[in-house]
Amino acid sequence: MIDQHLAQFALQIGVENVLIGDEAKPYLVDWTKRYSGEAICVLKPANVLEVSAILKYCNANSIPVIPQGGNTGLVHGSVPGETKSGSLPVVLSMLRFNELNTVNRLDRSVVVGAGVTIKDLATHVSKFGFTYGVDLAARDSATIGGTVATDAGGIRVVHYGTTKAQVLGVEAVLADGTIIDSLGSTAKDGAGYDFSSWLIGSEGTLAVITRVRVRVKNPLPNAHTYFVGLNKFSEASELIAKCFLEQKRVLAAEAIDEASFELVCKFLDLSKPISDYPVILLLETDSEVDLSAFTFVKSQSAKESLEFWARRERLGDAVGSLGIIHKADVGIPPENLDEFIAEFHIEVNALSAVKQTLVYGHIAECNLHLEIIGPAANDVSAESVTYKLVAAHGGTVASEHGVGRAKCEFLSLVRSDDYLQTIKLLKKTLDPKSILNPGAVIALD
Ligand code: MLT
Ligand code: ZN
Repeated sequence: MIDQHLAQFALQIGVENVLIGDEAKPYLVDWTKRYSGEAICVLKPANVLEVSAILKYCNANSIPVIPQGGNTGLVHGSVPGETKSGSLPVVLSMLRFNELNTVNRLDRSVVVGAGVTIKDLATHVSKFGFTYGVDLAARDSATIGGTVATDAGGIRVVHYGTTKAQVLGVEAVLADGTIIDSLGSTAKDGAGYDFSSWLIGSEGTLAVITRVRVRVKNPLPNAHTYFVGLNKFSEASELIAKCFLEQKRVLAAEAIDEASFELVCKFLDLSKPISDYPVILLLETDSEVDLSAFTFVKSQSAKESLEFWARRERLGDAVGSLGIIHKADVGIPPENLDEFIAEFHIEVNALSAVKQTLVYGHIAECNLHLEIIGPAANDVSAESVTYKLVAAHGGTVASEHGVGRAKCEFLSLVRSDDYLQTIKLLKKTLDPKSILNPGAVIALD
């Protein structure tokens, strides 16, 4: 049967775009190396008609399809998971969707292929005098399709908003091969349901995104970049609030706990510009901020700013160098921030397998990246404790990385039964055989 499927896929997209064996391997394991699985093959279609033909065939033959962008996901959403015998999936890599169209300077938008990387999109729109609002450390590999599917955030959300705020429309293919063109042709289009917003955060479970129309924005103003020493995370929230009150534009605000800061400085062999503070805030603003009440350092050159940013952007690599990491990307209401962080450290470190816990994150949105070092890859006891604590503090278990398979079982902690039943209904309506990324986001009965 598998040979028959491979022959059919080769007819649809060319044998050179059907990867098996060693060629397929990099697409079957995720960035953290914690999640991997098997697949019939990796398919690399080049246009929407090819995606439509593949999905039609997979739907008819009940073959699960795992859509994949740059494979930078952290929640086991874009590589296969455990599969029942006889139901091996295909991975649908969207990397050949690299179309970059002319920026429409009159309505400040551009249509791009789902496989375009964030970096290539930013470079492209900069030639027209614009920028793209979403930026993140994985910019070289993360794709526009993947970031729409997870509503990725990153480092500029405080200024430009998350991916949701950038998307004007999408072209996507449903499980049965139906092509929905909802790219739109005007900058404001309120005619009926907004199809693109169904797909934002759906992580490939409702449709495969093939093209996206996004807003382009004015580039960032010249930035003032600081490291500020703080006693607790909530002081960062207060400082950001003060900047807003004083009409300063906050361009980025990243808080890092002392242990993470120490680790990344050592990892990069860079100095530790601020010592003896439990929290270090990387603050970027459009104009000078009065920080006389704080201990701070200000970047004096573009090179120094890059080094400030390296200490934030390479944190994932620095922590990753310690081994298998359990990563929890959570959002906490600002009023509960310090209490949550204190309880997280105490409760998770009480587990015998846990060696260390670290906290950093996009503090303007109270989006924390909690890193847990010690437990074996398949031991989710620390996640379980963490997410229960998140729910108890009124937070969210998925702030910007998505739910994937990793957090599927924890979604009910923060979403009501009515919500879960309604999204199941939507899933069953659009994908009745559940071929699209089964097991991610929502567990079907
Ligand atoms: C980050 O903010 O560094 C990213 O979301 C990735 C990560 O958590 O490792
Ligand atoms: Zn992040």
